[in-house]
Amino acid sequence: MKCRRCKAPALIDVRRHNAAFCADCFVRHCQEQVRRAIDGFDMIQPGERVLIAVSGGKDSLGAWELLVDLGYETDGLYLGLGIGEYSDSSGRYAREFAAARGLKLLEVDIPGEYGFDIQTAAATVRRPPCGACGLSKRHLFNQAALEGGYDVVATGHNLDDEAAVLFGNVLRWDAEYLGRQYPVLPAAPGFVRKVKPLVRLSEREMAAYCVMRGIDYIVEECPMAEGNRHLAYKEALNTLEQKSPGAKANFLFSFLERGHERFVADAETERGELTPCTVCGSPTTGEVCAFCRMGERVRGRDGA
Ligand code: AMP
Ligand code: FES
Ligand code: ZN
Repeated sequence: MKCRRCKAPALIDVRRHNAAFCADCFVRHCQEQVRRAIDGFDMIQPGERVLIAVSGGKDSLGAWELLVDLGYETDGLYLGLGIGEYSDSSGRYAREFAAARGLKLLEVDIPGEYGFDIQTAAATVRRPPCGACGLSKRHLFNQAALEGGYDVVATGHNLDDEAAVLFGNVLRWDAEYLGRQYPVLPAAPGFVRKVKPLVRLSEREMAAYCVMRGIDYIVEECPMAEGNRHLAYKEALNTLEQKSPGAKANFLFSFLERGHERFVADAETERGELTPCTVCGSPTTGEVCAFCRMGERVRGRDGA
């Protein structure tokens, strides 16, 4: 097997592109995929300040390195979710990555600053942990970006993540979610733009990129993600991909090109009148936003 670009011995094949690469050319392939995603979806304009949310895992740390490679002005944001040893260890990976490269990492520790951890919050509001976790992440990514004057928040969602979410949305024909599923969510009053620059790279490519760039990352998954529906969707898509390389990317990109637009109206109807949360100022349809309500309920329970 020879590298498609330089004909040196190849280290990795990417079947959906019908290509193989040596280490250096593979890194360039990853950079090109991110560049194409950013330009193709108008994710980031030259000179904009980017806040990348990093979990300590391969996707988000790899995404940070790729954005730096491509010359973007990028700081990191790590959220301490209070998930025991998993959080301690993922935080260490994020800190070490930033320190070794002289990059700036912002940190928000949820238990320290808001007085609750994700597991307790989820139990109190009777949501699955991933629901309480996702709500907190969305809220705090946005808040940190607004406070720090960033133009855009980037996350490490990759091709496999996005295809799995799409698969779930299609299985339920959830028109509202389909209308919102896109690698760029534009800014709106009180909300910064959100982008997913890894949408053209698979989980396997990101793992290989990290190995080739010497990026140390946390391999364990969040202990609360076990049994997560998306894992089953990923397995199903991987079975298809095995038989027919490119099926996964085709499923996602055909939707983005030809399907998404048909559902946009379904997503828009849902946004009612937004007013600032009386506690934190974030736009919300009620008086107090969902994140602050959750915090009040957990702290109330503790004090009861
Ligand atoms: P997940 O929801 O765990 O699949 O993570 C999706 C993306 O959210 C990751 O690629 C990161 O960009 C971001 N993220 C996840 N966990 C954290 C965290 N603890 N702190 C900051 N960003 C995170
Ligand atoms: Fe959110 Fe585990 S990282 S529930
Ligand atoms: Zn609030």
